[in-house]
Amino acid sequence: KEIYCFDEVDSTNIIAKELAEDDAREGTVVIAKTQTRGRGRRGKKWISPRGGIWMSIILRPEIPPAEAPHLTLVTGVAVAKTLKREFGLDVGIKWPNDILIGDKKVCGILMEAHARFNTIEYIVVGIGIDTNVDVDLFPEEFREGATSLKKELGREVDSVDLIRKLLVEFEKVYDDFKNGGFPEILNEWRRFSKTIGSYVEIRKQLGETVRGEAVGVNSEGALILELDNGDLRKIVSGECIHLR
Ligand code: BTN
Repeated sequence: KEIYCFDEVDSTNIIAKELAEDDAREGTVVIAKTQTRGRGRRGKKWISPRGGIWMSIILRPEIPPAEAPHLTLVTGVAVAKTLKREFGLDVGIKWPNDILIGDKKVCGILMEAHARFNTIEYIVVGIGIDTNVDVDLFPEEFREGATSLKKELGREVDSVDLIRKLLVEFEKVYDDFKNGGFPEILNEWRRFSKTIGSYVEIRKQLGETVRGEAVGVNSEGALILELDNGDLRKIVSGECIHLR
């Protein structure tokens, strides 16, 4: 499988998309030392200084487009397992796909699916990990709630070694996924979840917000909230804030 390494790019997700359009194979990886236009979910900017891991993986799973969001959870489980195993930190997942250490975010995942005629042509999964970066130097809006491995461990980590271990773990979990293992992966996700059991606020597009206790995640990976009036509500997408 091919791994493209760059010093500086606009966004590894954009490079991966271009390679995929040029028929790059499943498993092709794009890594950069820094990104000038790193992108986060919901059109947000993603700060990507040197010292972090910024990478994207091209996938070509044979699944209906509606199941593409499963890859976000698959990736989250692979990253969480790797960080837990390598560093033994208090690793958790905030729904749908933020990897936390304690209650601070250390990694974000941006899944972009490209479908045509209701079939997936390819999916780009972008993974951004704040490894050896100084989050205290981030602009304020990005600093809040963020941490890095260096900050948590009090030392630098070997990024190349971590990338290698992440890719090995990702391949394992992804193979399980392709062999019908999503229910078990979801169970692993649930074990890492810091959202289930929390009282949360969900900010949906168009400014709607919903509050309630997160009581579980269904077989599709949607969050189930118990509202204050006792009603259950299924949340398919949105930004999740842990209130308590
Ligand atoms: C989030 O908002 O939590 C998702 C952040 C995803 C960042 C990664 S870094 C590598 C890849 N390239 C990008 O431009 N974004 C993703």
